[in-house]
Amino acid sequence: MAGVLTMKHRARHLTKTNNVANDGALSLLEPRRLWWSAETVAVVTGGNRGIGFEISKQLAAQGVTVVLTSRDHSVGLEAAKVFQEGGFNVFCHQLDVLDTASITEFCDWLKQNYGGLDILINNAAVNFNQGFDNTVEYASQVITTNYYGTKNMIQAMIPLMKPSAAGARMVNVSSRLGRINGKRSKIEDVCLREKFSNLDTITEELIDQTVSSFLQQVQDGTWESGGWPKTFTDYSVSKLAVNTYTRLMAKMLSDRPEGQKIYINCYCPGWVKTAMTGYAGNISVEAGADTAVWLALLPDLAVTGKFFAERREISF
Ligand SMILES: NC(=O)c1ccc[n+]([C@@H]2O[C@H](COP(=O)([O-])OP(=O)(O)OC[C@H]3O[C@@H](n4cnc5c(N)ncnc54)[C@H](OP(=O)(O)O)[C@@H]3O)[C@@H](O)[C@H]2O)c1
Repeated sequence: MAGVLTMKHRARHLTKTNNVANDGALSLLEPRRLWWSAETVAVVTGGNRGIGFEISKQLAAQGVTVVLTSRDHSVGLEAAKVFQEGGFNVFCHQLDVLDTASITEFCDWLKQNYGGLDILINNAAVNFNQGFDNTVEYASQVITTNYYGTKNMIQAMIPLMKPSAAGARMVNVSSRLGRINGKRSKIEDVCLREKFSNLDTITEELIDQTVSSFLQQVQDGTWESGGWPKTFTDYSVSKLAVNTYTRLMAKMLSDRPEGQKIYINCYCPGWVKTAMTGYAGNISVEAGADTAVWLALLPDLAVTGKFFAERREISF
């Protein structure tokens, strides 16, 4: 019931507009520079609430057709209904980024109904640390959802990304906590940090082995002396993996011919008032979603394999 009320409450705030909600810069773009239309299809994972819900809203407000996905179909349908009542082209489909059957069924549905997609927002994630808490009790779920779930979706969607002059786009919602040399969250092993820093030494095996080694130490009870990030340990390792995989994929996708380009970037939304932070963040979902929408719709996007926050490139 509380969820229903929240959705209805949100509906009152929905208005269809050609400008991104609460946004200045996109609305400043000349109309001729807008490359998208109602034919442009954006898929948002974990779109039923929080930042994913808001990204769906801002993309739909720009006139893009949004496929809002949710692991709980009924919750997703309710979220999509809110948008539809506001006149937006938002449709829902069930998707659990960890369930192979769910991903396969989603791919078939997407291909059949839309012929593919132009924009993928990898937003779905979990975190079980709150405040100064640093639990690794759910490390396996955190690494699996945040890293492997993102990877699953990137791999499943690549063959479905539609060819276009503007280039298809993937945006991975990540975190500054995954920075290689972050003040509070870095891996202590200098050698490993160097490998993660250098695009020539980044491989899928390096990322997979690092997260596996972390999970093995969690299982053995030895992780505390393993030199892992000191705060939000499992979440930080998962987002380091997401960031690094973004760079790797950008490199692997870089030789696609003109007209079939796929640009992939990641960004940190900041500390946002959502369920994930126990609503203790210091910025709104509107501000947290902004850079994702900006990256997804940027005209003449030739930037790929980069990390952003507040519409600016930041270091990995
Ligand atoms: N909030 C922050 O301060 C903050 C800061 C940095 C980065 N981020 C990132 O921003 C993104 C959105 O976070 P949020 O704050 O909006 O969190 P949220 O409100 O907890 O939303 C997370 C979303 O992910 C979905 N999800 C979780 N596991 C899934 C799975 N296996 N398959 C499909 N969907 C799944 C959740 O679905 P259910 O509703 O079914 O659980 C929910 O829709 C995440 O990538 C997060 O790491 C957030």
